[in-house]
Amino acid sequence: MDRFYFPTWVNQFVVLLGLGAGAAVTYGAVVYTYGTLPSTLNVGYSPVQPVPFSHELHAGQLKMDCRYCHNTVEIAGEAAVPPTATCINCHSGVNSTGTTTTGYTAIHSTSVKLLPVRDSFRTGEPMDWQRIHDLADYVYFNHAAHLNRGVGCVECHGRIDRMEQVWQDKTLSMGFCLDCHRNPEPRLRPQSEITNLAWVPQYDLTTEEGLKKHMDDIAKEYEQLHGTPYPKIHASTSCSTCHR
Ligand code: HEC
Ligand code: HEC
Ligand code: HEC
Ligand code: HEC
Ligand code: HEC
Repeated sequence: MDRFYFPTWVNQFVVLLGLGAGAAVTYGAVVYTYGTLPSTLNVGYSPVQPVPFSHELHAGQLKMDCRYCHNTVEIAGEAAVPPTATCINCHSGVNSTGTTTTGYTAIHSTSVKLLPVRDSFRTGEPMDWQRIHDLADYVYFNHAAHLNRGVGCVECHGRIDRMEQVWQDKTLSMGFCLDCHRNPEPRLRPQSEITNLAWVPQYDLTTEEGLKKHMDDIAKEYEQLHGTPYPKIHASTSCSTCHR
């Protein structure tokens, strides 16, 4: 049987190939290292806001539901930061006819801290809230799809109700997303608890029996709310789910 020999001029490419492979490994290692450092992934990022709005006060102490302000979160991909009018419901001190009010609508109505809010309402210019969480544009994300399947805010944002100034609490990296998508059941909760950041499951979810009871409760609540059977959870890990 004849053997095929590569001509000797091919050798130079073998060297190049070797260099290329080496470079690829180094490149991969560097991307991996920097790509997974918390600092690169923005954990802890907490820009100063134009008004010192406190979630610790409004969502924590005053126990306002997240959806009072982020009212699109269950129906849309985006959670939407509230318009100035939402703040003015409580902080204006004047009503639509310009008359000074007292009580519920006049909380800190002359506060200097709230001056930018009153200016924004008067001029119609939206508040310049600084964005904190921001995935790369090549990633598709949808809030409603998660909340309607019982993934609570706390899974991705941490204890917002304890934050004076919001910071990014989780990496929101691909690994973070996939970690849950591979096995979401233990991290789901009843629909009624999605904005209750303090909620904890009442069963031991590391046991098969505990997990079954947990899912049964979720399914029962779903069926009561919707009147249809609880659909099977399938959090896809295929690339096209998040990269469209
Ligand atoms: C009284 C209105 C109000 C309530 C209630 C409220 N928020 Fe907010 N939220 C805001 C405003 C205003 C901002 C933008 C300024 C800031 O980041 O503090 C914001 C920002 C955020 C951000 C950061 C957005 C970004 O730029 O990435 C997250 C996450 C968030 N809220 C989650 C929650 C959660 C979870 C709850 C319920 C526990 C909640 N909020 C309750 C008004 C509210
Ligand atoms: C449901 C009513 C309500 C809404 C809506 C509301 N707040 Fe408040 N806010 C309060 C109350 C009550 C306090 C003060 C509690 C206290 O001083 O004990 C407060 C205090 C504040 C303070 C501190 C003021 C100071 O001088 O100490 C700021 C700043 C503030 N809110 C910003 C906002 C912003 C911005 C929004 C809109 C995103 C908003 N609030 C929406 C009820 C509300
Ligand atoms: C499964 C993870 C996850 C859950 C659950 C989740 N968020 Fe988010 N949230 C994100 C990600 C990721 C972003 C950044 C989105 C982007 O950059 O496109 C974000 C952004 C936001 C923003 C900024 C505006 C926007 O839509 O980009 C607000 C406000 C917010 N979330 C509030 C909430 C509230 C309130 C809840 C619960 C009712 C919640 N989130 C539940 C992952 C989540
Ligand atoms: C704590 C669990 C959890 C985390 C964290 C999580 N997901 Fe999901 N994701 C789910 C579940 C559950 C579903 C819904 C599965 C179903 O409908 O059966 C889902 C569905 C999706 C879908 C499909 C939505 C649609 O419109 O059909 C996308 C896209 C998605 N997730 C992206 C992300 C991204 C991007 C991240 C990270 C920033 C993320 N998820 C983090 C649990 C999670
Ligand atoms: C559940 C959602 C999800 C799925 C499924 C997913 N990705 Fe990603 N991917 C992400 C997120 C989130 C990021 C980080 C975005 C950022 O940094 O803002 C990312 C980043 C990336 C990057 C940029 C490099 C990096 O690591 O930051 C590449 C390349 C990539 N994904 C490829 C893939 C491939 C290939 C698959 C299929 C095997 C896949 N992704 C499946 C969510 C997902």
